Amino acid sequence: MAKAEIMTVIENTPLTKDTYRLRLKSDQPVQVRCGQFLNLKIPGKALRRPISVTSWKDDEIELTYRVVGEGTRILTQCRDTLDVINECGNGFDLTKFDKEVLLIGGGIGTAPLIACAEEALRQGLQVKVVFGYQNRSQTLFQEFFREKGIHAEYVYDEDGENVVTRIRDLGLEKMDFLACGPVRMMQAVDGIMEGYGQFSLETRMGCGFGACMGCSVRLKDRMARICKEGPVFEKGEIVWQNLL
Ligand SMILES: Cc1cc2nc3c(=O)[nH]c(=O)nc-3n(C[C@H](O)[C@H](O)[C@H](O)COP(=O)(O)OP(=O)(O)OC[C@H]3O[C@@H](n4cnc5c(N)ncnc54)[C@H](O)[C@@H]3O)c2cc1C
Ligand code: FES
Repeated sequence: MAKAEIMTVIENTPLTKDTYRLRLKSDQPVQVRCGQFLNLKIPGKALRRPISVTSWKDDEIELTYRVVGEGTRILTQCRDTLDVINECGNGFDLTKFDKEVLLIGGGIGTAPLIACAEEALRQGLQVKVVFGYQNRSQTLFQEFFREKGIHAEYVYDEDGENVVTRIRDLGLEKMDFLACGPVRMMQAVDGIMEGYGQFSLETRMGCGFGACMGCSVRLKDRMARICKEGPVFEKGEIVWQNLL
């Protein structure tokens, strides 16, 4: 359940030109699921900024964020403590997977899939990965996959390729999958994948814990709050046009 706490910043360093690793320490063991997010209070900003969990261990949690506007720019200067709401959202459900899982990520949407890879390995699932970025300078997490001995496919828009073309080339359409990235990428992924899947959605948020309805989206058969019933929804539930 979402809970407020003050966390200590133990690292806030650049990974690429505009992407940062933020490591936070809690005063208690971190209990979070892959696909959940933290809602960060940014100094001088009224609305919190949601950032997904990249990984966690014991009392530490790691986030990866891209600087896109003023809030994330201010975040790069935070070196002391951060006021966070932890354990937000539903997270991915890996119990729905049997022997293997394909992780499909685009851009900064690859970050929460690192936590999924760790969880999948803990569950004994075989992990396949297709990650796409606009160009090589944005590449993230290659070292992680090398250390884990996982072969990860990386594709780049600058080569005229994307995750969908690579999935087709490799004949992976029948695999069960988890996906996170830009809406148009996920819509295209939904269009080609034939197996079971879960998508993590992004939107601008208000409260971040279900109170303001600011993140409501119309699914096929119901309304849902992305921050509370989401951000993860199953393939077949989402009406992509409502998110564009
Ligand atoms: C559940 C969830 C998990 C997220 N996880 C991550 C993560 O792990 N790493 C990460 O870098 N970002 C993540 N985001 C996006 C992140 O919250 C926004 O990039 C951030 O709030 C932007 O704040 P800002 O003040 O820097 O930008 P703003 O000044 O608020 O906006 C700058 C630009 O970014 C666009 N923008 C802002 N928020 C979003 C959004 N949520 N979706 C699409 N466009 C947006 C704005 O329209 C504008 O064009 C996540 C968002 C959600 C909802
Ligand atoms: S952001 Fe307030 S209900 Fe989701």
